[in-house]
Amino acid sequence: MDNRPIGVFDSGLGGLTAVKELLEIMPQEHIVYFGDTGRVPYGSRSQETILKYAAQDIHFLTENRVKMIVVACGTVSSLARNLKKPQGVPFIDVLHPTALAASAATRNKRVGVIGTSATIRSGSYRRALAEIDSEIQVYDRECPLFVPLVENGFVADDDEVTRLVAERYLGELRDAGVDTLIMGCTHYPIISRIIGATMGKEVTLIDSGRETAFCCSKVLEERGLLCDRPAKGDCSFYVSDRVDDFSRIAGIFLGRDIGQEVHQIDINRY
Ligand code: DGL
Repeated sequence: MDNRPIGVFDSGLGGLTAVKELLEIMPQEHIVYFGDTGRVPYGSRSQETILKYAAQDIHFLTENRVKMIVVACGTVSSLARNLKKPQGVPFIDVLHPTALAASAATRNKRVGVIGTSATIRSGSYRRALAEIDSEIQVYDRECPLFVPLVENGFVADDDEVTRLVAERYLGELRDAGVDTLIMGCTHYPIISRIIGATMGKEVTLIDSGRETAFCCSKVLEERGLLCDRPAKGDCSFYVSDRVDDFSRIAGIFLGRDIGQEVHQIDINRY
């Protein structure tokens, strides 16, 4: 048993899709979340910059004595092979749990992948899917406007701007006949209803945050690292810019007021 917190990070709000699932599966766990809101988006930046930011995010979490690090960011996960991992702390990223779930879900072996420019350019999902099942055909597409739309609160199911952008980005994947779509950026499940409505009911959406949360609980259990307190765990949220916008949108997404739990830090100290 281990009652230290689980550390989760992303460039902004996206990693909350993993936090929401973690809280549902393991409500007794403490969570320390870092959203790098001062430097979001990561997905349009160079590999070198993304790796530098990720190293600082990881350093912040290890200073908080976390028992596990969850990279709840598709962009950082796509480059994780080149990332220096902390010693002695289990480290999970979104790539493999998500690719495995997609390979299990597809029936016609046509899988769509959407993500940030860095994620799609890295070819990480293509490689991961090919390793699992070489017959899967991958259709991928970068969707760089989705992250700023989410971070700026264009998230209502009937938001006209986000619907138009979704149609522009997703039309060709729908026409390619994919039956499964990997939401390869953790921000995207926040607008999953718009993505789902654009793709059509018959397409299965794979939520990378959710798949990673399941994987996290499995690893903690296997290694005897689950928390043994009967009470609900605490969440602490840290951001690198103003707390108010994050608190508002995160509160809507998590379905509760988190205003008191959000703190601003200077990530350049790490
Ligand atoms: N949510 C992240 C991802 O999964 C980062 C998006 C971004 O900052 O561009 O890729």
